[in-house]
Amino acid sequence: MVNITVVGTGYVGLVTGACLSDFGNRVVCVDNDPKKLETLGRGEIPFYEPGLKELVEMNRTRNRLSFSGDIAASVSSADVVFIAVGTPPDEQGHADLKYVREVAAAIAEHMDGYTIVVTKSTVPTGTGSLVDSILRERRPEADFDVVSNPEFLREGSAIGDFMRPDRVVIGASSERAMDVMEKVYRPLYLLRTPIMRTTVANAEMIKYASNAFLALKISYINEIANVCDAVGADVTVVARAMGLDGRISPKFLHAGPGYGGSCFPKDTLALTHIAEKAGYRFRTLEAVLEVNRLQQMRMVDKAKSLLGSLENKVIAVLGVTFKPSTDDVRDAPSLTILPELQRQGATIRAHDPVVSALPGVDNVTWCSDAYDAARGADCVLLLTEWNEYRDLDFEKLGATMRDKTFLDCRNIYNPRDMKQHGFRHVGVGRSFEASAPWAMDDVLIRESSDSIPAPETVSDRRS
Ligand code: UDX
Ligand code: UDX
Repeated sequence: MVNITVVGTGYVGLVTGACLSDFGNRVVCVDNDPKKLETLGRGEIPFYEPGLKELVEMNRTRNRLSFSGDIAASVSSADVVFIAVGTPPDEQGHADLKYVREVAAAIAEHMDGYTIVVTKSTVPTGTGSLVDSILRERRPEADFDVVSNPEFLREGSAIGDFMRPDRVVIGASSERAMDVMEKVYRPLYLLRTPIMRTTVANAEMIKYASNAFLALKISYINEIANVCDAVGADVTVVARAMGLDGRISPKFLHAGPGYGGSCFPKDTLALTHIAEKAGYRFRTLEAVLEVNRLQQMRMVDKAKSLLGSLENKVIAVLGVTFKPSTDDVRDAPSLTILPELQRQGATIRAHDPVVSALPGVDNVTWCSDAYDAARGADCVLLLTEWNEYRDLDFEKLGATMRDKTFLDCRNIYNPRDMKQHGFRHVGVGRSFEASAPWAMDDVLIRESSDSIPAPETVSDRRS
């Protein structure tokens, strides 16, 4: 058993703390926000993540997980301190390391005996050395090591990702630190999870390189979709066949309204800056950023071409989070698409299973469900593929609409079915004209998708 302190109980910190305590470690999660601590103290989770509440509760009952505002006591009793505070982009898009620096300084002040300081937040290559120099400067005599252990958690399936990862990356500055980290992740060693033992700088780069590659894959398939639209091909079929090539893999090949969330937009931008600062221009990644911005606007253009003009049109938006099974709207495509629809004269009625407000987006009528949103609408615009939108009753939906048009930004409905239901339908790189009755096997594609948990998986985690 290792004594661990996790500083920062945001999304990453809390999932990390809860899972590491479940591995058998003794974990204290520290935060400087008293309101957050009060919420956690009541057994509530400040955000939506399937299964997390139960995991926290169970490990608190076993006395392996606790919360505290006292960084001094928590750090001095820890063998390993994880830094999991936010690294938001500053005005130029560089990862802002202010909180990481502050926390490193506080750790320096209070660490007692051999301590391993781990960066869990996504930080540019070189941050490990920065943390090392902050600690060394303040405590030249102290016995410590700095480790980088990046997270690869997807919101909505973070616990599964932590407990059954494809790999664990540990960048350490000594064999001694590596051995302690091995103990921290002992259950995963026993499960033969590949553990990359590497340097701090490599570990930091692996995180950015992985996220940027996934973003590139999404932008690539989005552009293939746009070409499919132009030449009359179906991107869901193209992507499926591409994915059957083991070198490509079917994951992250779903065309849509562009990626969002707390990681891809921030990390892709940060990596272009890291490269630039080092004297290298990362051209493919610059294109990824541009393609993603244009892809969001393309959804507005699609609505416009379906409806002729957006002036005085009512649009029913289904789903506003950046993906299903989360209440997170950070950098969600909805934040740019909805205001642009409004700017062009449309009125928005919206529904989302867990969100009923969007920061900076006003004049939206929030509705009780998809059918309520569709009342009097000229178009349904499906933006997030929540399970509850996967089996809509189209008779009921269309009955109260002013015009039966459907813009399926996640390609979850088959164009041929939609035509049968009497809807004018447009997808992303997918249309009635490009589909064929002998190729209606798209359901299989969605089920094998890794970005979309199957319904039973979600409810399992909740129970
Ligand atoms: C994380 C990672 O930090 C980021 O690098 C990654 O790429 C995405 O997710 P997240 O967990 O979502 O960020 O951050 P946030 O929700 O901002 O949580 C940070 C927590 O740290 C907050 O609860 C905040 O109160 C706390 N904090 C911040 C401290 O306890 N001390 C500080 O000095 C600063
Ligand atoms: C991501 C990474 O997957 C994770 O490893 C990392 O540590 C944090 O960032 P997350 O942001 O939670 O996780 O979500 P993810 O499932 O990766 O989706 C990101 C965005 O890409 C979403 O907006 C999603 O809709 C979009 N996406 C994903 C697509 O448009 N198409 C796909 O095929 C997959």
